[in-house]
Amino acid sequence: MTLDMNELVSLCKRRGFIFQSSEIYGGINSCWDYGPLGVELKNNIKRLWWNAMVNREDIEGIDASILMHPKVWEASGHVAGFTDPLVDCKKCKHRFRPDQLTEKKCPDCSGELTEMRQFNLMFKTFMGPIEDESSIVYLRPETAQGIYVNFLNVQTTLRHKIPFGIAQIGKAFRNEITPGNFIFRTREFEQMEMQYFVKPGSDEQYFDHWKEERLKWHKSLGLNPKKLQFHEHTKGELAHYAKKAFDVQYEFPFGWQEIEGIHNRTDFDLSRHQQYSGKSLQYFDEATKEKYTPYVIETSVGCDRTLLACLIDAYHEEEAKDEKRSVLRFHPKLAPIKVAFFPLIKNAGLQELTHKLQEMVRPFYLTRYDEAASIGRRYRRQDEIGTPLCVTVDFDSLKDEAVTVRDRDSMKQDRVNMTQLMEFLRKKLEA
Ligand code: GAP
Repeated sequence: MTLDMNELVSLCKRRGFIFQSSEIYGGINSCWDYGPLGVELKNNIKRLWWNAMVNREDIEGIDASILMHPKVWEASGHVAGFTDPLVDCKKCKHRFRPDQLTEKKCPDCSGELTEMRQFNLMFKTFMGPIEDESSIVYLRPETAQGIYVNFLNVQTTLRHKIPFGIAQIGKAFRNEITPGNFIFRTREFEQMEMQYFVKPGSDEQYFDHWKEERLKWHKSLGLNPKKLQFHEHTKGELAHYAKKAFDVQYEFPFGWQEIEGIHNRTDFDLSRHQQYSGKSLQYFDEATKEKYTPYVIETSVGCDRTLLACLIDAYHEEEAKDEKRSVLRFHPKLAPIKVAFFPLIKNAGLQELTHKLQEMVRPFYLTRYDEAASIGRRYRRQDEIGTPLCVTVDFDSLKDEAVTVRDRDSMKQDRVNMTQLMEFLRKKLEA
């Protein structure tokens, strides 16, 4: 089944995952707002990444400022080189990347196009009340630079020996010429980046290590392994800072595309920051008495793109009891809501017991209560948002102290004693 992206966009809106930004004003191109379920899904992805990257002895987390000293972006090479080629239509003023055009005329109005020029993708703004050249600051186009400028702060305060890493999750901004494919390419997005500082000479070994680790992480989200692959950058594709780079790609309905980049950035960034700041960023190895500028192995994954891959991968349409059901088969650790609670009908005794059971589970898992419509309709609603388990309280429950637990994927129903319920849910959700 090839998923129709419009269907996914519509489900995301209908069920509160993702809304168009500023929709009541007609929306703003390529900006999206995460709704109540979307933000849970996104937080789950971020938490899983953070646990995998920071819950270990050799990596620390930070949260650096989005606005940085403008010299950072001169040193990083972004002021001079973070550009895309661009042409404008002289008639309708629309902008295009020339490499994506098949004709020499505007595809929208057949108007004449300007000569190609380079367009810097960084968003500019002004710091302070005076809007002139001296007050220009940039919205960071990658979170990585916040890590490089803090390399020595972290290394010395936490007394780390090389190799060690610094991880960060945060917003990045790029004035993309051709955003699109829903949340795949946007102008504001979130990155989860880790920079691993190593001794020059050991960089290739750590590059190979992190490349494999990162693919494993994507598989651990439950993504179909057949839809994941590596793509090695050719010389022409390599970013200005990279000696070697591999993308982890996912097979989207619009083709194989990058979700993560693993880069060997050599000592490019630290050396440039030393040069532009005049401050040494060298590491002194106490044991060998050597002083050197570390190399950096970077892993850089887009949170929004990973979320899109998870949504697409989980989306299934199937026949169930003569009707179509849409189901998001999320891995339980990704599912926004883990357990839904239903009284069979609106009856005071059933409602009270259902609330009591929900309160028992609430401290451990995100839950929802639903008593509107038939049980079948309520199951379908939870299937569509990917809730792995539904607990139904019926009249027998008042006598035999057991409830029905229904599984999203198999649609199998188990009768479970209430005293065993927590254990049963935990086993299913953490299997
Ligand atoms: N620090 C290295 C770096 O930023 P990148 O390959 O340009 O490398 C890393 O970006 C990841 O960030 C990409 O794999 C992608 O998941 C995400 N990303 C980049 N540009 C994006 C955009 N315009 N919209 C959404 N995600 C984006």
